[in-house]
Amino acid sequence: MSFFGVSPYFVAVFIFGAFEKALTAVIQTQQTVLAAVGEDAEVSCQLLETKDVLQVTWQKISNDVQENVATYSKYFGQRVNDGFTDKVEFVYTGLQNCSIVIRNVTEQDEGCYRCLFNTYPEGSFIGRTCLQVYELHEPVVDVRESNSTEEWVVSCSATGRPAPTVTLSVSQQDLNFSQYNTVSVSNTNATFTVTTTAVLSGSRKHSTQVGCAARVLSAPHREVMVTIPHDNDEKSGSDPRNLGIRISASLSSVVLLVACVTALIFVWYRKKSQSSQSHRQVEMNVIPT
Ligand SMILES: *[C@@H]1O[C@H](CO)[C@@H](O)[C@H](O)[C@H]1NC(C)=O
Ligand SMILES: *[C@@H]1O[C@H](CO)[C@@H](O)[C@H](O)[C@H]1NC(C)=O
Ligand SMILES: *[C@@H]1O[C@H](CO)[C@@H](O)[C@H](O)[C@H]1NC(C)=O
Ligand SMILES: *[C@@H]1O[C@H](CO)[C@@H](O)[C@H](O)[C@H]1NC(C)=O
Ligand SMILES: *[C@@H]1O[C@H](CO)[C@@H](O)[C@H](O)[C@H]1NC(C)=O
Repeated sequence: MSFFGVSPYFVAVFIFGAFEKALTAVIQTQQTVLAAVGEDAEVSCQLLETKDVLQVTWQKISNDVQENVATYSKYFGQRVNDGFTDKVEFVYTGLQNCSIVIRNVTEQDEGCYRCLFNTYPEGSFIGRTCLQVYELHEPVVDVRESNSTEEWVVSCSATGRPAPTVTLSVSQQDLNFSQYNTVSVSNTNATFTVTTTAVLSGSRKHSTQVGCAARVLSAPHREVMVTIPHDNDEKSGSDPRNLGIRISASLSSVVLLVACVTALIFVWYRKKSQSSQSHRQVEMNVIPT
């Protein structure tokens, strides 16, 4: 019983699978298209072999519901079906090459879009492209001074759909992040706000750049950099050791200058007095004669 019940099913699946695979092989299209909310997404199909195509049909499949979106044929031209007229436009129409654009995409436009090249007598050649819609806002970075010196609490938040990954980075190599903590909060509009907090420690010799990158799927990431000024900017005045070094440095240069001037004056004075002495000697020599 079970043998006869199961095997025809497998045979049917096998034949259908092989048939569909053979027919899709001659269509060139993108497997997935990624678009940000509000962007336009283009889907195009190219039938690589020349066939007698009567019509190109575009369908949308989402949540197992299949809808006809638009058709193109030589006799009827371009037709966009009700429910898609504000959403979909043809970009290029041809019976071998056809492309549509989905305007201002939202979450509702997600799904797979099929192009069917209806030929006679072979039937339909089908290509399929799935549209993934994402949302990603610019991350917000906050840097706070912690209790202990040489420690900063860095926190970065990013909102997106699906939940973004948030990565912190620092420009100076001897500074490290530790005590990572990540919290994800789901918002009412299906986005997530992910906040990563970490402690940045190490002594900073220069001003330091802290970066925060947010990523979603394989979409371009969004990154924000903030600069932490280096320690000396506001703190050096209150650092007694630094002040001491600076005071002694200026003291020693004053001492050096005074010493130089004194030495010069001394040398000049001695030279002067020596020459006047020799004058006197000459005069003295003159007098006795
Ligand atoms: C179809 O489109 C592709 C890429 O856009 C292009 O290279 C090709 O020449 C087009 N073919 C026809 C028949 O228009
Ligand atoms: C894009 O879609 C959103 C939501 O449907 C709408 O508020 C907005 O006005 C649309 N923008 C354009 C340029 O059509
Ligand atoms: C800061 O100091 C308070 C009280 O002294 C302490 O409870 C807290 O854990 C400290 N925070 C950090 C980040 O060291
Ligand atoms: C979704 O919600 C988040 C947080 O409330 C907001 O920043 C974002 O702009 C919203 N997205 C849309 C498309 O309305
Ligand atoms: C930071 O990490 C580097 C390399 O892992 C290590 O050599 C250095 O000691 C660390 N610095 C601090 C302040 O933990």
